Amino acid sequence: MEIAGKMDSAVRLKDVTRSYEMGKVKVEALRGVTMEIAAGRFSVIAGPSGSGKTTLLNIMGLIDSPTGGTVEVCGTDVLRLNDDALSDFRARKVSFVFQTFNLIPVLSAYENVEYPLLLAKMPVQERKQRTMEMLEAVGIADFSRHRPNELSGGQRQRVAIARALSKRPDIVLADEPTANLDSKTGSAIIDLMLRMQRDHHATFIFCSHDRQVFEYAEELFIMKDGLLIERKVTT
Ligand SMILES: Nc1ncnc2c1ncn2[C@@H]1O[C@H](COP(=O)(O)OP(=O)(O)O)[C@@H](O)[C@H]1O
Ligand SMILES: [Mg+2]
Repeated sequence: MEIAGKMDSAVRLKDVTRSYEMGKVKVEALRGVTMEIAAGRFSVIAGPSGSGKTTLLNIMGLIDSPTGGTVEVCGTDVLRLNDDALSDFRARKVSFVFQTFNLIPVLSAYENVEYPLLLAKMPVQERKQRTMEMLEAVGIADFSRHRPNELSGGQRQRVAIARALSKRPDIVLADEPTANLDSKTGSAIIDLMLRMQRDHHATFIFCSHDRQVFEYAEELFIMKDGLLIERKVTT
């Protein structure tokens, strides 16, 4: 992982558009977004439902491509990469945390966290050590043998956070990660993410319409109708 200096940017978007053809109707989810997100910070993308937050996050996380514009992630112009290079880049650099946790139901908490390390072909000893270290860091070590359906929502999200960070990504993208949690559990999850962001020097980009999340933002971007309408730097 690169050491993030103050001027480094994790993501740089220029004139990004994304439209969907729905029969005869064209939905413009993003209508020209230009933004730069600093590396090593906790940034929040806010805005009402339907404003384009998920579309934006998926483009930053390289699981969707824009209709127009340019996308730079960790200094790489990602739209110029071929499919293999793009998959490899994504596997090394970015992780997602989802609203619905998206854990693999047949795998234990341990196996869910280990999975990205298996994919990355990490040697077995290092992999076991890293997996336990991550489970401990999120306070779930005692539940390592439990499957997702034997865990509470907050515990599942802790496992998802451990999984996201196990491969030491540069960027963690979280799409409404507290939306399915009560507010107390949601606060605990945000605190955990802040701690993980500091410990791992990763860039966290969080999208949410949960006001509770906004106060934690070092940078807050506000979306409306597919446009970035405001940017506030709070630290
Ligand atoms: N796969 C899709 N097909 C058609 N329209 C979509 C699709 N995904 C998102 N949209 C539309 O794009 C707009 C932005 O959606 P989204 O990025 O999910 O917003 P948010 O995450 O802020 O709620 C909405 O009008 C939504 O209906
Ligand atoms: Mg969304």
